[in-house]
Amino acid sequence: MFEVIEREKLVPNLHLLTVRAPQIVETIKPGQFVIFRSDEKAERIPLSVADWDREAGTLTTVFMVVGASTEKLSSLKTGDTVPTVVGPLGRPTEIDNFGSVVCIGGCYGMGSLFPTIKALDAKGNDITVVYEARSHNLLYWADKVAPFCSRFISITRDGSSGFKGHIDKSVEILDIIDLKPDRVIANGCTFSVYKAAKDYARYDVPIIVSLNTIMIDGTGMCGVCRVTVDNKMKFACVDGPDFDGRRVDWEELFKRRKQYLNEEAFLVHNSGCGGIK
Ligand code: FES
Repeated sequence: MFEVIEREKLVPNLHLLTVRAPQIVETIKPGQFVIFRSDEKAERIPLSVADWDREAGTLTTVFMVVGASTEKLSSLKTGDTVPTVVGPLGRPTEIDNFGSVVCIGGCYGMGSLFPTIKALDAKGNDITVVYEARSHNLLYWADKVAPFCSRFISITRDGSSGFKGHIDKSVEILDIIDLKPDRVIANGCTFSVYKAAKDYARYDVPIIVSLNTIMIDGTGMCGVCRVTVDNKMKFACVDGPDFDGRRVDWEELFKRRKQYLNEEAFLVHNSGCGGIK
């Protein structure tokens, strides 16, 4: 069993969950993920890792409540236990001295980018962080990433904090300050990373997106997480989750992600938790 050290609502609908998992944090690297089950009968949920402390043996994730299973995780309290935390899974994000790197985070991606930003900074990259959200109350961890980047751009769709707009606004800002990225890394919900891939395509540089696909085993056995990249079938859990967003078949990915939305909505509605927020 894995002990819950902390569970906190960071912003509406996004929660931080820290558990004791010393064996996993011994080897984990930026960009990898873990699979949680909130109880013996719950489904397996892949979650990106947002931080860890090797000395304390703790691992932190930031997740969004999107259905019945994540709703259950969001009700855990300090001292509770969860039966399953499996990992580290997936390939780590490639970290090197690339030059100028733009890191784009939306929703839970503002958390999962943190280890990558720290590692890129340690390699001497010039880092621009772009965090985007619908409104000011959905932005978090700006203070956490600030020491590791040269510039921080926050964008809200309603203009209540930072610049008004979406990810394409950050491209306009880079133009104004005459900054051309050598690499782009995007974490967050599928629409967010898709937007990053489209909006940054003009630079003709790698746009590394972390794909959040449906998963079951997370080890390449079930095939549920398959995506088409460069016209080849890949499994996000073992070949990814990072892929070059310029090569992803986005249409297919969006169709596959929608498959279980009705079942999730039904479960949440009937569990009395008040619906998907
Ligand atoms: Fe089963 Fe990837 S989750 S193959």
